Amino acid sequence: MKFFVDTADVQEIRDLAATGLVDGVTTNPTLIAKSGRRILDVIAEICDIVPGPISAEVAATDYDTMLAEGRKLAALRPNVAVKVPLTMAGLRTCKTLADDGVKVNVTLCFSANQAILAAKAGASFVSPFVGRLDDVGQDGMELIGDIVSIFDNYPLFRTEVLAASIRHPMHVTEAARLGAHVVTMPPAVLRQMVQHPLTDKGLATFMADWQKTGQSIL
Ligand code: G3P
Repeated sequence: MKFFVDTADVQEIRDLAATGLVDGVTTNPTLIAKSGRRILDVIAEICDIVPGPISAEVAATDYDTMLAEGRKLAALRPNVAVKVPLTMAGLRTCKTLADDGVKVNVTLCFSANQAILAAKAGASFVSPFVGRLDDVGQDGMELIGDIVSIFDNYPLFRTEVLAASIRHPMHVTEAARLGAHVVTMPPAVLRQMVQHPLTDKGLATFMADWQKTGQSIL
C-alpha cells in the first residue's frame, strides 16, 4: 500500500518525507488556498521534495481550459499527476491527458460507476472520498471495497484506487484491509498512526532498565 500525504504544507511534507514513509502527495484547491502560495510555485517545490506522484488539481470546469491547465501543471515536473473532477468534461480531459502520457488523478468520486468511468478514461488514480461519504451517512469504506473488487475483475484496468478524505487512523486500517492501492491522509493522521500508549510505556521501561546497566552501545 502506498502512503500519500494530503497537504500543500511544504514544511510538513519535508518532515514526513524524511521518514521515508511518503510515496506521494495530493493537493486540492482548498489546500493550495490554505498554503497562501501560488500553485505553480508550491507544486514545483513539493515535486522536488517527494519523487512520487504529486497531484495538482485544475481549477476550471470546461474541457478546453482544464486541458490547458492540466498541460501547464504537467509541464512543471515529470512527477506531477493532474487532478481533474469526476464530471464528463473532467473524464474527457483525463482521456486526452492520459493518451499524451500524463498521469491523471480523477477526484471527487462518490460511486462505483464513477470509478469505472475514471478507469475507462485511463486515469492513473481514482479518488473516492471516504470521509465525505461518512459525513452524509453513507459508508465510505463500502465504496472502497466495491471499487477494489470491481477493478480486480478487469486486470487490464491500470487505475489505482486512492482512498481520499481520510479522517482518522481506522480509515487507513480499513482501506488497507480492503486492498486500496493508495491512501492519502492528512499529516496528522500519519502521525497518529504511530502512537500507542503501550509503546510509550514499554520504551520508558526499557530506557530506565538500560540506564541501570551503565552500558553504552557506542
Ligand atoms: O484531497 C481530497 C480529500 O482528501 C479531501 O479530504 O477531509 O477535505 O474531505 P476532506
